[in-house]
Amino acid sequence: MPVLQEKLEISKGDITKVRADAIVNAANNSLLGGGGVDGAIHKAAGPELLEECRQLNGCMTGEAKITKGYRLPAAYVIHTVGPIWQGGSKGEPQKLAACYQNCFTVAENHRLTTLAFPSISTGVYGYPLEAATQIALMETQTVLKTKPSIQRVIFVCFLQEVYECYLKTMELILNGEL
Ligand code: AR6
Repeated sequence: MPVLQEKLEISKGDITKVRADAIVNAANNSLLGGGGVDGAIHKAAGPELLEECRQLNGCMTGEAKITKGYRLPAAYVIHTVGPIWQGGSKGEPQKLAACYQNCFTVAENHRLTTLAFPSISTGVYGYPLEAATQIALMETQTVLKTKPSIQRVIFVCFLQEVYECYLKTMELILNGEL
């Protein structure tokens, strides 16, 4: 999978510090802010972000909407809403996959080439980390093959546990074990 290796980076840190065309926010249906990465992004971007979010009339689970990045180093924020884990039989995998797909579609439509993702749904929303990481990396692999305009995807892991899970899952994919 050379495409995956060349264009994909797994890093540890705070997504609000990442200089990319867009960073992705793991938001809620209201798009009016919250805790976790959502709270950190709103705090770093400043109040203008909330003002713009108020105009968007929320966002359905699995969908994605774009705003400017304001005081962030990233030019844009793509807000997506991951599924709340309810045991796995309520369409959670399909909804999480849709988050990644729709973020990439929004990026492509806005001619954005570099994109940074947090680990969507694995915090407050309780999605099991290994399963969520497989979806994140498998969906991204598919997109990198079909959307050549996407040049770089960075997975920004805030927690050591998440970072290790991404590295391990990437290795499994590269070894053809997933
Ligand atoms: N940079 C990168 N990742 C981060 C950061 C950061 N600055 N801060 C936290 N994370 P969560 P969810 C990681 O709970 O599960 C909000 O209240 C965190 O360690 O932020 O999709 C929204 O408003 C975890 O690995 O998002 C929603 O109500 C990952 O980001 C709800 O939480 C996702 O954790 C969404 O829940």
